[in-house]
Order: sequence, then structure tokens, then C-alpha cells
Amino acid sequence: MSINPFKYKPLVAFSILAATTVYSPTLIASETEQFEIGKQKAKVCMTCHGADGISTQEPYPNLRGQKMGYLISSLKDYQTRERTSGLAVLMQQQADALSDQDIRDIAYFYSQLGNESQP
Ligand code: HEC
Repeated sequence: MSINPFKYKPLVAFSILAATTVYSPTLIASETEQFEIGKQKAKVCMTCHGADGISTQEPYPNLRGQKMGYLISSLKDYQTRERTSGLAVLMQQQADALSDQDIRDIAYFYSQLGNESQP
């Protein structure tokens, strides 16, 4: 009884595949993850800001493709009541429900939304 030399080929092929996929930049994987987490957390925002970040109501601003830094500072301004004009009261309530991590995840999601490189 001899060992079939072709028997372990699939294993070799798998190892090569695993080496090239698993060791590819982990940064990309974690960014995709943050996008998905942000998307889940942003569900509540979509009622007013639109399912794709483009609002259908005149008083509600678009968030799609907005700069991450601006999104974060705006949300913090609502939390600290730095921003009070117009319909800010609506946003203050929304922002109060968010942790710093939620803000980062949601801001990342909206900043990347509409970005070509995002799957
Ligand atoms: C009840 C409707 C409503 C919901 C829900 C809502 N928003 Fe808003 N949002 C508004 C309104 C109205 C404004 C404009 C407020 C103002 O005049 O400052 C606004 C403004 C903003 C701004 C500032 C945009 C800019 O261009 O200055 C950000 C950022 C924002 N919302 C993020 C969010 C996020 C994130 C969520 C979900 C956690 C959310 N909003 C949920 C109504 C809503």
C-alpha cells in the first residue's frame, strides 16, 4: 500500500490560499468590519437622514460621504449642547444615546458611504 502522491495536493493548495488571504492586510478586514458595525448602529439615523445617507426631507441634512472629523465634532456638539439652533433639539436627543465608540463607528460608516472602494 503506497501513499498517493496527489493525495495532499488540495492541502498544499489550501495552505497557499490561506497564506495569501489570511496574511493580507488585516487593516482592510477591520475597516470593513467597522463599516458594517457603523451601518447597524446607523439604522436609527436612516429614518431622517435616508437609507443611503441622502435625506428626502428638506430640514434633514445629507450625511453620505461627509468628512469623518466633521461628523464626530457635530455629534459631540449636539451632546454638549454647543449646537442648539434650528432643529438641533432633534439631534441632541439622538446624540445623547450614542457612546464615543458609537460616534466613531457611525461617522466612519457615513464618511465611507458612496466611496468607490467600499464593497
Ligand atoms: C428625528 C430625525 C433625526 C434622526 C433620527 C437623526 N437625525 Fe441627525 N439631524 C436631524 C436634523 C433635523 C438635523 C439638523 C439639525 C440642526 O439644525 O442642527 C440633523 C443633523 C445631523 C448632523 C449634522 C449634519 C451637518 O451637516 O451639520 C449629523 C452629523 C447628524 N444629524 C447625525 C445623525 C446620526 C449619526 C443619527 C443617528 C444616530 C441621526 N443624525 C439621527 C434629524 C435627525
